Order: sequence, then structure tokens, then C-alpha cells
Amino acid sequence: MQFKKTALAATVVAASTVSAANSTSTQSIASGCSLGSSATATAQADLDKIASCTELSGNLTITGSLGSAALANVKKIDGSLKLYNATDLVNFSADSLTVVTGGLTLQDLTVLQSASFGSLQQVDSIVLQTLPAVSTFTTNLQKANVIQISDTTLESVDGFSTLKEVSELNINNNRYLSSFNSSLESVSDSLQISFNGESTQVSFNDLVWANNITLRDVERATFPKLETVNASLGFINNTITNITLDKLTKVGQTFSVTSNNDLTTLECKNLTSVGGGFVVANNTDLSNIDGFSNLQTVGGAIIVTGEFSTLDLSSLKSVRGDATIETNASNYSCSAIKKLQSNGAIQGDSFVCKNGAKSSSSVQSSATSSSKSSKTSSNHNSDSTGSQSATSASSSSSKKSKGMAVAQFAPVNSLMGSIAAVAIALL
Ligand SMILES: *[C@@H]1O[C@H](CO)[C@@H](O)[C@H](O)[C@H]1NC(C)=O
Ligand SMILES: *[C@@H]1O[C@H](CO)[C@@H](O)[C@H](O)[C@H]1NC(C)=O
Ligand SMILES: *[C@@H]1O[C@H](CO)[C@@H](O)[C@H](O)[C@H]1NC(C)=O
Ligand SMILES: *[C@@H]1O[C@H](CO)[C@@H](O)[C@H](O)[C@H]1NC(C)=O
Ligand SMILES: *[C@@H]1O[C@H](CO)[C@@H](O)[C@H](O)[C@H]1NC(C)=O
Ligand SMILES: *[C@@H]1O[C@H](CO)[C@@H](O)[C@H](O)[C@H]1NC(C)=O
Ligand SMILES: *[C@@H]1O[C@H](CO)[C@@H](O)[C@H](O)[C@H]1NC(C)=O
Ligand SMILES: *[C@@H]1O[C@H](CO)[C@@H](O)[C@H](O)[C@H]1NC(C)=O
Ligand SMILES: *[C@@H]1O[C@H](CO)[C@@H](O)[C@H](O)[C@H]1NC(C)=O
Ligand SMILES: *[C@@H]1O[C@H](CO)[C@@H](O)[C@H](O)[C@H]1NC(C)=O
Ligand SMILES: *[C@@H]1O[C@H](CO)[C@@H](O)[C@H](O)[C@H]1NC(C)=O
Ligand SMILES: *[C@@H]1O[C@H](CO)[C@@H](O)[C@H](O)[C@H]1NC(C)=O
Repeated sequence: MQFKKTALAATVVAASTVSAANSTSTQSIASGCSLGSSATATAQADLDKIASCTELSGNLTITGSLGSAALANVKKIDGSLKLYNATDLVNFSADSLTVVTGGLTLQDLTVLQSASFGSLQQVDSIVLQTLPAVSTFTTNLQKANVIQISDTTLESVDGFSTLKEVSELNINNNRYLSSFNSSLESVSDSLQISFNGESTQVSFNDLVWANNITLRDVERATFPKLETVNASLGFINNTITNITLDKLTKVGQTFSVTSNNDLTTLECKNLTSVGGGFVVANNTDLSNIDGFSNLQTVGGAIIVTGEFSTLDLSSLKSVRGDATIETNASNYSCSAIKKLQSNGAIQGDSFVCKNGAKSSSSVQSSATSSSKSSKTSSNHNSDSTGSQSATSASSSSSKKSKGMAVAQFAPVNSLMGSIAAVAIALL
């Protein structure tokens, strides 16, 4: 979201610079099919002046108080096309346009109902932002690098169905969006679907790899061919019930499934390695975490919290960071994970495993002092019944507080902090 805000501010500045510099649109449009570096049209009459051009070069901005507008014959824009703050614009069409070498932006068009780009095949980026009245947007895009659709009233986003690869796809805050079906095979930077309608369903039935994936507020998602997420994968605060990623073998950085309160099925049977943290937290209906039976290595910390009774990490061989396993179910047994820890498979300083009935925690570290060992053994015997006070602190606080009991009161915050830090990293 921070990225988006910055991008928006930058665009606003750029747009006002252009209109201030070219105060009368007539001059810039009059020069024929070359717009110089940029031109601004504020009336259909301005657009009529370039109606005979099949190819335009330069950056064209359409703004002001036009009611409807059309770019009749233009087939190619060697530059960008931006419709911005045209507050009376109801309809726009550019049905001959096939290529925009730069960006196509429709932004802050408060009454725009329909936009038609019936022949459009290729753009560098397409940005649809703050279109509170739009109901249809038509294209037949074959090639685009960046797609951002935010804050629109679109119920479906058609016209992207033949795209095979993009670098960025970001669809957020479109509150009526009910489904998005994509034929993308790869996303080389980031794929984000967030804060749309509560019942948004997405399918990425051909996606094989993506650099980052983040989904929020999604009701259903399918990724039947997904094999690799090069950086991070996060499912956060969705209404989804089933996350099944059968083909996924590798996540390069953080794997995170948090706060999905309707989630009952989480299956990643082929996942063998996670390069960063492995976080499955706060999914209140997830009682069996048995979908990770092939997970072997975790490059960061492992955090599993919630109300689960089963946690199957039977192939796990190496965890580079800490381990925090907490459930309030009383029938979960820490014995398997404790065995891993005592074998040295969990390399971080901090190890916590708690269930609803009793708790046990220990600190594994070459520098473990005798005072910590005694803390650990007292924790084994304590009955914490869901209270968090008996867990060990993070590695940094245990180092700082060598021999001080104070550190024992830190974990609630440090656990939430570490989960929050992972969640923020996914933004
Ligand atoms: C439009 O603005 C640009 C950038 O300031 C300037 O270079 C160009 O000469 C202006 N065009 C006209 C026709 O005023
Ligand atoms: C259009 O604007 C972009 C930056 O937004 C600039 O890099 C490019 O040179 C401009 N195109 C022309 C033809 O001036
Ligand atoms: C948008 O256009 C209206 C007039 O149509 C103008 O008053 C307003 O300042 C413009 N807003 C921006 C951010 O350019
Ligand atoms: C906009 O297009 C619709 C059909 O798509 C048409 O019914 C309506 O009259 C048009 N509105 C304007 C202002 O041109
Ligand atoms: C997406 O696919 C689902 C199931 O195949 C279908 O019900 C839905 O209508 C599709 N959505 C769009 C926008 O095509
Ligand atoms: C995507 O992953 C890269 C690392 O490859 C990271 O630097 C970047 O911040 C991530 N972007 C998003 C939006 O998650
Ligand atoms: C991501 O991983 C896939 C599959 O291993 C690979 O083909 C692709 O080049 C990688 N992409 C990036 C951006 O590293
Ligand atoms: C989850 O989403 C709901 C709205 O759908 C919101 O009220 C809540 O704050 C979100 N929680 C988190 C942890 O993001
Ligand atoms: C979860 O989804 C997968 C594939 O999307 C499907 O094969 C499986 O039957 C579903 N499981 C449940 C319990 O709905
Ligand atoms: C795991 O991957 C292998 C090879 O790609 C495949 O044959 C197998 O069906 C996958 N497992 C699942 C549960 O899909
Ligand atoms: C867990 O869920 C509770 C209540 O739904 C929420 O207050 C808390 O912030 C969540 N924790 C995380 C780490 O998302
Ligand atoms: C676990 O805690 C949640 C609230 O934090 C509560 O709703 C749930 O009933 C508890 N489950 C068990 C088994 O104690």
C-alpha cells in the first residue's frame, strides 16, 4: 500500500505539471501526429484534430470537462495515454488502438461508465485507478508488463484472459469484484490480490511460477500448477476455506498463512523447502496442520500458532531460525518437535512449544547459561493453561537479559511482533 500511495502522488504531480506547462491544449494538438513530448486534450475538438492520425507519438493526456470522448482512428501511440480527472466523462472509446508503447492510465474519472479499447493488444502498463462508476472495461490485451486495478466498481475484469506473462499484477480495493480468472503462466515480480469484495474468487489455473504472491480478502483461490514462488507467498486474512497447492515445491523466502479464520484445509504436500520463515498462524478453524509432510528445510524461523491438534512436520530436517509452536488445544503433543530440537535440527536460539494443557519451552544455544536451563526446567513443570508467561524470549532478548527474569514477560509481544514483521514484509 505504501508503494501505491507513492505512485499515486507521483502521478498527480506529473499530470499537473503537464497541464500547467501546456495551458492551452490547441497549441500542442495542432502540430499533427507528433505531440512533441506531451499534449493535453480537454475537448473532443482537440481529439478531432488528431483523428486522421493512425500513429501518434508523444504522451497524450485527456482531462477537463468532456462528456464523452473517442480517439477514432489512432492505431498506435508511441508514448502514453492518460485519461485523468475528466470529471464529466461518461464514455470513452479508442477501438482502433492496438498498441500503446508506454502506459495506459485511467484515473480519477468519477462518472466514467464504460471504456472500450476493443482492439488493444499491447501496452507497457495499464493502470485503472479510482473509477467509482465504471461497469465495463473492454480490451483484448496480448501483452502487458504491469497491470494495476484499484478502487474501481468493476465486477469482473475481462480482457486480460489471453495474457501469459506480466511482471506485476495488482488488483486491490475493487469492492464489487466477484471473480478473476487468469491464464497467466508467470509473474516475474509481484502478484497481489487484496481488499476486494469479501467473496472474490480467483483462479490462476496456468500459473507455474511467480516471484511474490500475496492474497488478502479472497474467498476462493486455485493455483493447480504453481510450482515455485521465488520470493514470498502469503495468504493473509482471507475468507478462504481451502488452500491446496499440490505442485508447489519451493518458496524462496517467507511462506505465510495467517488469520484465515475459515480455513479448514491447508495442503502443500509437495513443498520441500522454504527459504525464509515458515508461518502458519491464527487460522482459528484449522485444527489439522497435516499438509506439510514433505517439508524438509526452513531457512528462517518456524512459527505455528492457533488452535490445532495435529501438526505434521515429519520430514523436517533443518530450521535455521527459532521455533515457536503454540496451540490452545490440549491434545497436541510437543514430543515430535521437541525431538527435532534435541537433535539439533532447529538451529535458532529460541524454542517454544506450548499446548493448552501444559507448556514446555527451552532455549537451545551454545551460550545457554545455567540460569536459563533452570528456567527451562521450571517451565516444563509449570501449568500455564493458555497463559503466555512461561515462554522463552527471543534470542536477542535472552542474550541481553542473561540471568534476568524480566525476559520472561516479553514473548507475547515479541511473538506478535515477529508475526507482524513477517506480515509487513509481505506488503
Ligand atoms: C508542453 O510542455 C512541455 C514541457 O514543459 C514543453 O516542452 C512544450 O513545449 C509544451 N508544448 C507547448 C505546445 O506549449
Ligand atoms: C512520455 O513520458 C515518459 C515519462 O512518463 C517519458 O519517459 C517519455 O520520454 C515521454 N514520451 C515522449 C515521446 O516524450
Ligand atoms: C480536477 O478537475 C477539476 C475541474 O474539472 C479541478 O477543479 C480540480 O482541481 C482537478 N483536480 C486535480 C487533482 O487536478
Ligand atoms: C455511453 O454509452 C452508452 C452505451 O454504451 C450510451 O447508452 C450512452 O448514451 C452513452 N453516454 C454518453 C454520455 O455518450
Ligand atoms: C471464472 O471461473 C468460474 C469457474 O470456472 C466461473 O464461474 C466464473 O464465471 C469465471 N469468471 C469470469 C469473470 O469469467
Ligand atoms: C517481491 O520480492 C522481492 C524479492 O525478490 C522483494 O524485494 C520485494 O519487496 C517483493 N515485493 C512485494 C510487493 O512483495
Ligand atoms: C523463478 O523460478 C522459476 C522456476 O524455478 C524460474 O524459471 C524463474 O526464472 C525464476 N524467476 C526469477 C525472477 O527469479
Ligand atoms: C481482516 O479483515 C477484516 C475485514 O474484512 C478487518 O476488519 C480486520 O481488521 C482484518 N484483520 C487483519 C488481521 O488484517
Ligand atoms: C481443496 O481444493 C482442491 C483443489 O483445489 C480439491 O482437490 C480438494 O478436494 C479440496 N478439498 C476440500 C476439503 O474441499
Ligand atoms: C508432486 O509432484 C510430483 C512431480 O511433479 C507429482 O507427480 C505429484 O503428483 C505431486 N504430488 C501431488 C500431491 O500433487
Ligand atoms: C489473530 O487474530 C486476532 C483476532 O482475530 C487478532 O486480534 C490478532 O491481531 C491476530 N494476530 C495476527 C498475528 O494476525
Ligand atoms: C482457543 O482460544 C480461542 C480464543 O482465543 C477460543 O475461542 C477457543 O475456544 C480456544 N480453544 C480451545 C480448545 O481452548
